[in-house]
Amino acid sequence: MDAKQVKELDKEYIGNTYKRYDVVFDRGMGSYLYDKDGKKYLDFFSGIAVNALGHNNKAIVEAITKQAKKFIHLSNHFYSDAQVELAKMIVDHSFGTKVFFVNTGSEANEVAMKLARKWGLLNKNGANKIITFYNSFHGRTLAALSATAQVKFHKYLNPVSPGFIYAKFNDLKDVESKIDKNTAAMLIEPVQAEGGIFTPNPGFLKGLRELCDKNRILLIFDEVQSGLGRLGRKFGYEEYGVKPDMMTLAKSIGGGIPLSAVVLDKKLEEVYTYGDHGTTMGGNPVACAAGLVVLKTVLKPKFLHEVREKGDYIIAQVKKWKNPRILEIRGTGLLIGLQLEKGAAEVVTAALKAGLIINVTGTETIRIEPPLNIKKADIDKGLAILKKVLA
Ligand SMILES: Cc1ncc(COP(=O)(O)O)c(C=O)c1O
Repeated sequence: MDAKQVKELDKEYIGNTYKRYDVVFDRGMGSYLYDKDGKKYLDFFSGIAVNALGHNNKAIVEAITKQAKKFIHLSNHFYSDAQVELAKMIVDHSFGTKVFFVNTGSEANEVAMKLARKWGLLNKNGANKIITFYNSFHGRTLAALSATAQVKFHKYLNPVSPGFIYAKFNDLKDVESKIDKNTAAMLIEPVQAEGGIFTPNPGFLKGLRELCDKNRILLIFDEVQSGLGRLGRKFGYEEYGVKPDMMTLAKSIGGGIPLSAVVLDKKLEEVYTYGDHGTTMGGNPVACAAGLVVLKTVLKPKFLHEVREKGDYIIAQVKKWKNPRILEIRGTGLLIGLQLEKGAAEVVTAALKAGLIINVTGTETIRIEPPLNIKKADIDKGLAILKKVLA
């Protein structure tokens, strides 16, 4: 199919929720994508932080091919060596002692919130309220959207699922004022990603941990976007020195194949019992085989160090431009936002035309999140395009 045919069929047959950019990709390699006409694009977006190891990664392709030749799917009625191996690797590198696999970030958050409510029922006189934070994003399913404290996402959702209380990010006093005896959990992104790349103030997440400990509340970190190397740490919680009770992972964990995980602290591993939750596809062997490659690569100290270096380098370079259109540079590791006053969408379109894929998030925030293994020379190429477009 040529690009024109794909666009026509998309318009005719695909549900109406996506606004596509005017490009039809044909293939990818490393940090580059190529469109149907052979034009080359540098990828500073990674499919929304999914392609941590770039496109067409040899080790991922080999691992999923090897697994697919054995079996692609069995269901969770049967053991899976890829699944147990991946769960062990996550546990070995994190605070967790057990892992529950599902398919998407939204679903992982649903599982964590369901578990928190069961914990509240068993341990805290039926406490079921969950505190979440303004400007957050936790996914598109009913409860995940209800947890997402952004009014624009609630427009057609009513009635929003009950039991969610919204507090201000970076405001411990406000959080404390929202706690009562029915508070079971807090759910927070260590770095608010979709909301516009907002990092926590020093001490904020530690303060939340203290409030949770004092009031017997579970602390859940949504690390769907900020986990697994994106911040230059194994997991986002390490960047801030705060251990959650549960953590959700998705996006990059399956190497581009749908996979997500809920990581549980020891004290929660007995909360779910037989039949409390289930999934047909979650922890699919092919996805877990890819996940093993991702984790084996990303969790290496040298790799993580390089992610931090590359992130610092991007921020330092952008600062040097002294471009008055950039009001603020936010982020850490390779999760970076450039706050513009206006015109972010036009910048993204112009960059695409010039061969660079970036994205807008929050309000007029240019989001930069390239593959974690991007080469320094490619960072320079992308920044040169962005500098020109912003000028
Ligand atoms: C922090 C966070 N949580 C949850 C989600 C939802 O993930 P998914 O789209 O895989 O359901 C996202 C997606 O962008 C996210 O950034």
